[in-house]
Amino acid sequence: MKRIYFDSASTSLKPKQVIDAVVDFYQNYTANIHRGIYRESEEATKRYEEVRNKVAKLINVKSDEIIFTKNTTEAINLVAKTWGEVNIKKGNKILSTIMEHHSNLLPWQELAKRKKAKIVMLDLDLSNIDQLLQGVVLVAITHVSNVLGTINPVAEITKKAHQAGALVLVDGAQAVGHMKVDIKKLGCDFYSFSGHKMLGPSGVGVLWMKKEMAETLSPFLLGGGMVGQDTPQKFEAGTPNIEGVIGLGAAIDYLNNIGIEKIRLHEKALTQYALKKLSGIKGITIYGPKKRAGIISFNITGIHPHDLAGFLDKKGIAIRAGNHCATPLHEKLGIKSSARISFHIYNSKEEIDKLIKCLQQI
Ligand SMILES: Cc1ncc(COP(=O)(O)O)c(C=O)c1O
Repeated sequence: MKRIYFDSASTSLKPKQVIDAVVDFYQNYTANIHRGIYRESEEATKRYEEVRNKVAKLINVKSDEIIFTKNTTEAINLVAKTWGEVNIKKGNKILSTIMEHHSNLLPWQELAKRKKAKIVMLDLDLSNIDQLLQGVVLVAITHVSNVLGTINPVAEITKKAHQAGALVLVDGAQAVGHMKVDIKKLGCDFYSFSGHKMLGPSGVGVLWMKKEMAETLSPFLLGGGMVGQDTPQKFEAGTPNIEGVIGLGAAIDYLNNIGIEKIRLHEKALTQYALKKLSGIKGITIYGPKKRAGIISFNITGIHPHDLAGFLDKKGIAIRAGNHCATPLHEKLGIKSSARISFHIYNSKEEIDKLIKCLQQI
């Protein structure tokens, strides 16, 4: 039975080209980067740095502003531990939203507690932003909600935040690889995302910030490869995930070959199709707006999401069930957990039909 994978918001599947690029590194030029004066090391360094250029081009920034991290979580922690450590002071406010993933909440909560600063939360529709921006030094917001699929108006928020004197950090984990992300247009100050959610390998993520900003910050971790180095290397202490970065480069090529706009259109069509079909299921509650990214969370009266996921698994369909690391949002919705389906380029309407058929059975 061909399995159906509806859990791309958790991690995406990987194309053969990505797997091949990782294997090619292992088989043909394994070496550390930025160190060896021999062929394999020079080749690995060249390929690693080429990916920095590819990432920069993908999100329309300069390549020396790309910092490779482990994932989105590490990228956000890096900002909290470097910029936040110096700039968040007693009485300051950090503005966030009720829909954040724990990765963009816990680092700020910990920092705020230590510094005696305050976290203020925006409503789901962000309508209270004007009243809440006063005294805010940082807005930490997700680009796309990993539960509701909401696409937040980051450019608009950034404009308002900057007028109020606040910086903006964007969690782009669910955006990059699914839709065009142009940092210049967004105007934000920090942007983070994970390679493994955009067809790349696990263990590699990206933090973007302006060079002028990065130069003012102290390193996040200390160790080899960063002593005496300028940014971005000063934030990449120790041997990085070389094969992960190289695989990410192959993922970006793959996405670009299809075309990011085309991917967005495909996911949009699937999402609208799924929303329409799901709304016909008896007892279903679907969370989130109509216009959204390819993520749909729902509950069916009388069926626990875990039981639903177990039932669908036996039918060959992988979905996510739980709170999706977004406890405040689930509390706001008055639920403990939800079932979630999420799409990427490899999903089809036929797969959604199969899901609907199974849901009708249950
Ligand atoms: C919106 C959002 N932010 C952050 C993360 C954390 O990503 P990672 O586990 O790759 O650090 C996720 C993962 O699901 C997410 O959906």
